[in-house]
Amino acid sequence: MKKETIRPAKYLTGAVELPGDKSISHRYAMLAALAEGTSELRNFSAAADCHSTLGCMSALGAEVKTVKDTVRVTGRGAHGLRSSWRALDAGNSGTTMRLLAGILAGQSFSTKLTGDDSLQKRPMKRVIAPLREMGADIRGREDNFAPLEIHGAELRGIDYQMPMASAQVKSAVLLAGLFAEGVTGVTEPAPTRDHTELALEEFGASIEKSGQTIRVRGLGAGNGSGQLLAKSLDVPGDLSSAVFFLAAASLFPDSNVLIHNVGLNPTRTAILDVFAEMGAAIQMLGLKSSQGEIVGDLAVKGASLKGGVIAGERIPLVIDELPMLAALGPYTEEGIEIRDAAELRVKESDRIAALAENLRRMDAKVEERPDGLQVAGRVAGKLRGAEIDPRGDHRIAMAFAVAGLAAEGNTVIRDANCAGVSFPAFFSELNRLAER
Ligand code: S3P
Repeated sequence: MKKETIRPAKYLTGAVELPGDKSISHRYAMLAALAEGTSELRNFSAAADCHSTLGCMSALGAEVKTVKDTVRVTGRGAHGLRSSWRALDAGNSGTTMRLLAGILAGQSFSTKLTGDDSLQKRPMKRVIAPLREMGADIRGREDNFAPLEIHGAELRGIDYQMPMASAQVKSAVLLAGLFAEGVTGVTEPAPTRDHTELALEEFGASIEKSGQTIRVRGLGAGNGSGQLLAKSLDVPGDLSSAVFFLAAASLFPDSNVLIHNVGLNPTRTAILDVFAEMGAAIQMLGLKSSQGEIVGDLAVKGASLKGGVIAGERIPLVIDELPMLAALGPYTEEGIEIRDAAELRVKESDRIAALAENLRRMDAKVEERPDGLQVAGRVAGKLRGAEIDPRGDHRIAMAFAVAGLAAEGNTVIRDANCAGVSFPAFFSELNRLAER
């Protein structure tokens, strides 16, 4: 259990490249494994989570070769996955488990799918229910938790009204839809990240969107060759990782940081709107479209942050950035209030509880609520360095490392290796940019 000590910084300066987007890497790896031929996935995420996905796809028969950050996946074709003699291990990754459940539901074999202690506590009924409706036989502990036993079946297309705004649930149903008879539709109650739709299109699936409904045609139902095609793709840098540097640089008037090649898909950039409303000085530069996704650089300078309320339909669009926003609260004028975000309680940790506990350790004034929290702003006093327990959650560890840069005294992050779930080089990159 490695501890990382964060010393106060004067400002952040320099340029940084980020690991490839985690959400996109998962999807490209899964679709490449289902495609015919060899896909080359460049700037593939270094995140442990995405390597869990690669491990699962390789156990299902895809050939995976990794050279630095390029991954070559030779797929098995849409109907060529092989059963795995051992349980598939999704590690800490909810995306791996939920999206893969969709693919496995449509196979002609059974699979056991498991994960680490945190993942075994996260709700899976949200994917079990629609996949069952499509015809799969899925068993889980208490009908909700991993390990899951997925007995694949001949699926039928459904029209699924999602009860919650979750990109993972949407994606599980769409991926199962590839193996279903006819057309499968999913309607979301509020927009969520659309990387699955874009990736399906890139790999040659037949997909359409109208309003809040996305439809995919089963590969057996007249999609040309009935196959997905291998692709060469560049994964954009991960905006959810960029956010830690955007926040850290914003804290100091003399900061000047350039983040290269960041994914700026409009279903992910709500966080930049939140930052802009708070008074942050962030500029998007050199935007270009890249294989369905949008990519650009982000330049950030120090600013005086106002704070504010984050709630409603915006929540699913900034869900992974909420830990960083909450941990910035004590450095803002008015503080930060987060509402309508009960989902945070079923992420890699109970993020509302983890944020409240660790903010208090640093002397912040926090009110914890069932669906969010209120963090008092600067007037409530300065933050004090403390020992942080990230509860094994990468985004909690990174958020408090950033908060520690502007606190009085040192901050120690326990079990700091957990950052590797999304960003293995986080601490070295943060230390490289921080001037002391
Ligand atoms: C993700 C969707 C989000 C997000 C997660 C990644 C994805 O989860 O929190 O980190 O890649 O689809 P939900 O869809 O469950 O909200």
